[in-house]
Amino acid sequence: MKMVEKNRPVSEKYLQTLLTYYEEEISGESYFYCLSEHFSEKEKTILLARIERIAARTVEPLLKKYSLVARDPEVLHQEGLSHVEQHQCYSWHQFMTYIVERYPAYLDEFEDLEAMAPIEDIVALKRLTEHEIVVIDFAHKELAGDEDSVAPLMRYLS
Ligand SMILES: [Fe+2]
Repeated sequence: MKMVEKNRPVSEKYLQTLLTYYEEEISGESYFYCLSEHFSEKEKTILLARIERIAARTVEPLLKKYSLVARDPEVLHQEGLSHVEQHQCYSWHQFMTYIVERYPAYLDEFEDLEAMAPIEDIVALKRLTEHEIVVIDFAHKELAGDEDSVAPLMRYLS
């Protein structure tokens, strides 16, 4: 247990999970940028990449606070690219369906991270969690043919 801020205990599990999720956002940015080359919905996929970067930035102050150091950006970039192959042949509809079906589990994980967090970290973590909510919302809207499907993403990016 590390003791920070008025002796509030912070578990190693919390710190490790925070760092892992941060790194996954950085990898995720590379993943979406690379995938954007495979979909005609390139601009929308780039928005997803940008969301990942903003989500990562949200928790950077927490990494600093706990002296957590992410792995080399190139390693994380390669990790992101390693996930592209399994989705690059998806149709856009298949990809949106995948997001709608798979990402709620990530949402649960972010909420679990919040539950482990000291109260003063919650604002940043809620913003991290929110990025998953807007991406799922976007995918639902895409599948529904909503012409304003990017609205949740733009809101997050603004
Ligand atoms: Fe993400």
